Amino acid sequence: MSITIDHAGKVALVTGAGAGIGREVARWFAEAGAAVAVNDIRAEHAAAVVNEITAAGGTAIAVVADCRDDDAVDTMVASTIEQLGGLDIAVNNIGMLPPGRGLKPFVEYRGDDWRDITDQNLTVAALCGRAEAEAMQASGGGVILFVTSGETTRPSPYNSIYAAAKAAINHLVTSMAVELGPDEIRVLAMAPGTTLTESVAAAFDEDRVDQIVASTPLRRMVEHDELARLAVFLTSDLARCMTGQFILADAGAFLSRTRPANQI
Ligand SMILES: NC(=O)c1ccc[n+]([C@@H]2O[C@H](COP(=O)([O-])OP(=O)(O)OC[C@H]3O[C@@H](n4cnc5c(N)ncnc54)[C@H](O)[C@@H]3O)[C@@H](O)[C@H]2O)c1
Repeated sequence: MSITIDHAGKVALVTGAGAGIGREVARWFAEAGAAVAVNDIRAEHAAAVVNEITAAGGTAIAVVADCRDDDAVDTMVASTIEQLGGLDIAVNNIGMLPPGRGLKPFVEYRGDDWRDITDQNLTVAALCGRAEAEAMQASGGGVILFVTSGETTRPSPYNSIYAAAKAAINHLVTSMAVELGPDEIRVLAMAPGTTLTESVAAAFDEDRVDQIVASTPLRRMVEHDELARLAVFLTSDLARCMTGQFILADAGAFLSRTRPANQI
């Protein structure tokens, strides 16, 4: 006997899928048979991922939107449903430190830092989750998976706003799961450890990478495809009894020491 995950006939929306983890998640959903709506704020990045998927024989469309905006998010969900025939799975993957809002001591963060960083992490997730949940309530169910962070499981000195915003999503998942469970909507989060996406590679020097690897029990970082496989699994029927929790995928990094001050 073998067990396979087949998302054929399903429609999956992946936000922030023009690069990094989101791009790999979109590719893996297409590989598993789903029709994929590829969201990004950067139109050319979304188009490139769509081309990659269709060239490999999959089905994908671009749904370009800035997910910090309610109307843009509604339009993204509506055009996914209109063009692909429904919405079964949503992976809310957007998250980042906005340009100019880098790592800082807690006492130096001002109101604009708080507003921008929570907008790019917590608010985008909440707005997308709301629009997707409404659509799934109307269609009879679905799965919503948020991408949070391993930084939510331990102190995150000098990155306090990002970690707090991501931790808020882990909690949001519990409330959404209780409210939406009766509508047959499962809500989960997966929390990656450090993954060398283009944006992380640009921010970390070699020493920082070596320190993270050395302090992680599995002595390595997490790979993009490992997160994509987990997303495909968590949103499949194999995981149908799971809702309202976050799943760490961090090579054991949560067991390692808190980042010292000299690693800002
Ligand atoms: N890479 C890591 O080490 C790591 C670790 C833990 C958690 N995460 C989380 O995983 C997720 C993906 O991380 P990544 O490193 O792949 O990110 P990334 O920066 O490589 O890609 C994010 C994508 O989101 C898009 N985007 C940003 N703001 C948007 C908006 N408002 N609307 C639409 N699209 C928008 C960007 O254009 C980009 O293509 C994020 O939520 C991040 O916080 C990453």
